[in-house]
Amino acid sequence: MSYGLLKGKKGIIFGALNNQSIAWKVAERCHEEGAEFILSNAPIALRMGELDELSKKTGAEVIGADATSMGDLERLFDTTIKKFGKIDFILHSIGMSVNVRKGKHYTDVNYDWLEKGWDISAVSFHKMMKVAWDKDCMNKWGSILALTYIAAQRTFPDYNDMANNKSYLESIARSFGYYWGERKVRVNTVSQSPTPTTAGSGVKGFGGFLGYAEDMSPLGNASAEDCANYCVAMFSDLTRKVTLQNLFHDGGFSNMGVSQKIINKYENE
Ligand SMILES: NC(=O)c1ccc[n+]([C@@H]2O[C@H](COP(=O)([O-])OP(=O)(O)OC[C@H]3O[C@@H](n4cnc5c(N)ncnc54)[C@H](O)[C@@H]3O)[C@@H](O)[C@H]2O)c1
Repeated sequence: MSYGLLKGKKGIIFGALNNQSIAWKVAERCHEEGAEFILSNAPIALRMGELDELSKKTGAEVIGADATSMGDLERLFDTTIKKFGKIDFILHSIGMSVNVRKGKHYTDVNYDWLEKGWDISAVSFHKMMKVAWDKDCMNKWGSILALTYIAAQRTFPDYNDMANNKSYLESIARSFGYYWGERKVRVNTVSQSPTPTTAGSGVKGFGGFLGYAEDMSPLGNASAEDCANYCVAMFSDLTRKVTLQNLFHDGGFSNMGVSQKIINKYENE
């Protein structure tokens, strides 16, 4: 159902890889709600070609940019500004850890890989906000969002150095978000339930994460579609005074101690 919540709004959506990606669902919902946007992803991801389908469906132009490259980001924002003028929203839906990908144990992380993952997963958020800041291209009451995970606050062993990256990402949202307040732009992170996507499924023991979170959450896990709805709300004019927040979108998981379902599992052992 469309409510026209984003009618006339323009933005950039980073991180749609395939139709499981959270950013893919966000793009579909933003389109339904009347927004126009640019889709961006790393050049290597574009070569897979799946983004063409989303581009056709939403009428969005696709522009490649490695989110760690200031040159790529400059070009992307210049093209966006040429097309739309000032914009209203940015979604950072980007994450990658080489240590996770290569199965390196946390007690033995490779520090070059750690730096690469940190740059992609966290610092890139600062970089895109710096480019947007320098170009002064956000409209008043604009909204900037990044996706994160509760491993930033709690320990989830196999999440590895991504846990540290997410803490850093959330901290950037608060630090840069303070300055964006001067321009009446809000900056928040959405802490999403485990979600079966390419990045999510790459974490060792992901099936276990997913089932455990489902059994712990009073409302069950939030899906990628649920997350897209929440992002639409955060881009809309209905959430103008929400900023510097890490917003848990997880069916209640973050405030649980233990659920009856989990207790029953142990009692029946
Ligand atoms: N899936 C989950 O369980 C889950 C839970 C909470 C938060 N998140 C977060 O949601 C976001 C989106 O992930 P997803 O689950 O949709 O997986 P996904 O694999 O579909 O998306 C990750 C995206 O990051 C992009 N990316 C990687 N390196 C890049 C670079 N250098 N420049 C630009 N883009 C680059 C990938 O191409 C991909 O599109 C991530 O920040 C992830 O950590 C995911």
